Amino acid sequence: MALVMSCWWRGRFFFRIFAKVAVQSEIMSILLVIPDRKLTHLVAELQQQLPQVPIVVWPDVPDPDAISFAVVWRQPAGSLTPFNNLRALQSFGAGVDNILVDPLLPKLPLARIVDPDLTASMIQYLDTALGFYRYRFDEYINAQQTQRWHPRSRRQLKAVTVLGLGELGAAVAMHLSQQGWQVSGWSNSAKHIDGVNCYAGLAELPLALAETDVLICLLPLTSTTNNLLNSETLAFCRQGVIFINVARGAIVDDDALLAALQSGQVSAACLDVFRQEPLPAEHPYWQQPNVLVTPHISAVTNAQTAVTQIVENYKRCMASLPMFNLIDQQRGY
Ligand code: GLV
Repeated sequence: MALVMSCWWRGRFFFRIFAKVAVQSEIMSILLVIPDRKLTHLVAELQQQLPQVPIVVWPDVPDPDAISFAVVWRQPAGSLTPFNNLRALQSFGAGVDNILVDPLLPKLPLARIVDPDLTASMIQYLDTALGFYRYRFDEYINAQQTQRWHPRSRRQLKAVTVLGLGELGAAVAMHLSQQGWQVSGWSNSAKHIDGVNCYAGLAELPLALAETDVLICLLPLTSTTNNLLNSETLAFCRQGVIFINVARGAIVDDDALLAALQSGQVSAACLDVFRQEPLPAEHPYWQQPNVLVTPHISAVTNAQTAVTQIVENYKRCMASLPMFNLIDQQRGY
């Protein structure tokens, strides 16, 4: 009898372990919640690198309990609440503000993409924009409207200030310094970057703004940076500064920037990001002659290179290891 009881007990024990492992091994699917992108390429790349793992594209989710990991970008609020076995979130971009804005976001680790391809793209965009203004292409585009032949010397642009010295901002500041620009940088917390005159904290913002010909915004969008560039702060800049925003539209008070563009306090602006995207047809930026609008293309996530990081973080998450490039959700970046 004792032998029967012991066998029954052990059998029950092993059955429970087996059942647990079986259930856990089924909770392994990756969910993609990226409503504004075509995902065929990303799905194919993930399937190639993780042939055993089901890749599910929201909103078509046959088994919500099988989802363990989600790649997200501009997800609709509350879209992640049905997934009880979700363990971690991976942003499909460098920024996370559009993810953290969801009031129903599950409290899970969140990682972002840090991709040399994104950094290279941002640097090329900014080199192009700086060349555009140095050679006065903005003026010649307007002159062409009236067949006006009016050659001028290049703009004397020497000093640039980079707001935001995170992954992208620091790389841009270092690159511009190597290109011979006189570079200042500003960030929330103190940084040291060779060749860059670094300022930190709100008290030092006026100093960083005052010494520049070109102001480049690469800040994360947080409660501190929302509307940071407004009529008061833009007034700290030199008269005629050129402004380039490749971060987030909401960092700028649009009415204040338009007023500064009309008064000449800001002589030109190259804007790649907007409070509302796509930029609405009736927005005054479209008609403002000294504004160049580009449709958020300065650093678009490349599915091919980003996939390596997604796969790595998925594997780490499934092995209960901390993911790479985790963000601090309190700080918001
Ligand atoms: C783009 O804006 C990004 O955050 O990756």
